[in-house]
Amino acid sequence: MPSIPASADVTAAAPVLSVRDLVVEFPTTDGVVSAVNGVGFDLAAGETLAILGESGSGKSVTAQAVMGLIERPGRVVGGSVAFEGVDLLAASSEDRRRVRGSGLAMVFQDPLSALNPVWSVGFQIAEMFRVHRGLSRREARRRAVELLERVRIPGAAQRVGEYPHQFSGGMRQRVMIAMALALDPTVLIADEPTTALDVTVQAQILELLDDLRAETGMGLLLITHDLGVVAETADRVAVMYAGRIVETGPTDAVLSAPAHPYTEGLLASVPRGQSGREERLRPIAGAPPSLARIPPGCPFHPRCPYVIERCRSERPPLALLGHEPGAVSDLGTDRPAFSARSVPRSGEPPIDRSPPDPAGVGWEPAGIGPESASADRNPAEDAQKPAGDRQGAGDRQGAGDRQAAGDRQAACWRSGEVGRGDG
Ligand SMILES: Nc1ncnc2c1ncn2[C@@H]1O[C@H](COP(=O)(O)OP(=O)(O)O)[C@@H](O)[C@H]1O
Ligand code: SF4
Ligand SMILES: [Mg+2]
Repeated sequence: MPSIPASADVTAAAPVLSVRDLVVEFPTTDGVVSAVNGVGFDLAAGETLAILGESGSGKSVTAQAVMGLIERPGRVVGGSVAFEGVDLLAASSEDRRRVRGSGLAMVFQDPLSALNPVWSVGFQIAEMFRVHRGLSRREARRRAVELLERVRIPGAAQRVGEYPHQFSGGMRQRVMIAMALALDPTVLIADEPTTALDVTVQAQILELLDDLRAETGMGLLLITHDLGVVAETADRVAVMYAGRIVETGPTDAVLSAPAHPYTEGLLASVPRGQSGREERLRPIAGAPPSLARIPPGCPFHPRCPYVIERCRSERPPLALLGHEPGAVSDLGTDRPAFSARSVPRSGEPPIDRSPPDPAGVGWEPAGIGPESASADRNPAEDAQKPAGDRQGAGDRQGAGDRQAAGDRQAACWRSGEVGRGDG
């Protein structure tokens, strides 16, 4: 491949990582799993982009494809992953290996499975310097201690000789971050780096990642299912559903005026207030589809309260929906004004957000959610029913609710007018 330009050649505003039309499939006995179906995004130096979506939406597979870690029989069947202008998917495996570590590094969800239990953490970090930088044993160890200090492990000089099992979950994740940082990557991909940790430790790790990003100027691709993590950390967010990005834009804009019904549903499913009905969660009815059997049309249609006939056979254009600078959206005026910083991390006490849902209908204007459901109603079953069956509950709601639902349906299909998404 052509030589990779030094970071200095790339302007701060230019993306260091550009993913386009990425498609990843896994042939299985159950059929072909279409895990990633045309994902695209840009990441600039010093920026944090969160990829947000429920479990099974294709986030990890996207990250693995970017890192070149899809194992056979899985296959990247289309698209490009340009790192500093060079398409890694078209590069030789040797060039890809060179980029991995020094260009792109990754932190995984479960640090224990990524660390070797029989070697000290210091040895494992030092090996990075010995293998990739040719440092002496002594110098590599010194650098390992430095790195452990940088990720704020107390008593780094003593702890460098300890083994993974001697570290707590949070400290192990710090060790993994240290290893990922060893070769000064331009981009760090963190795949649910705090999911296995308790809430206080989660906050500390996120703060560490954010500080390191600011110190080093690296781009941070943060993968999460946690809206609170997005709100706390990300400059921009890309929302994934069924292997696609359905909405993207600056975090504040997306969280304050979600344009896609799925994003709206995610927002409605986090705690919203400290008292009364505002505190109740409104989970999205149903479950994400198997990626071996993605529904036709809009993949979200079996769960969407705004579904219309057209959604069952056609997919609306992916849309930025007014989140890009200069673009004006006519969406969002009928929805609660969330502040990005007001979304709590999962497990944290709910934060009161105001104003409350002005329409009084929240996420389920068509009447498929807890607000209108009887106590024993099963939302997952509901989602499988034809729209006509579900509409009955909607009929019990006010005309204003139906108006809101009608506006949102139309909005999905108008979205192409305000700009295409980058998915
Ligand atoms: N090695 C694999 N073989 C078959 N299917 C896979 C493999 N890895 C991931 N998948 C499927 O791809 C889909 C997306 O997975 P993943 O990216 O891990 O989701 P997420 O990270 O969003 O929770 C899932 O349906 C998963 O079952
Ligand atoms: S309104 Fe239709 S196109 Fe829009 S998210 Fe719902 S089902 Fe999909
Ligand atoms: Mg995952």
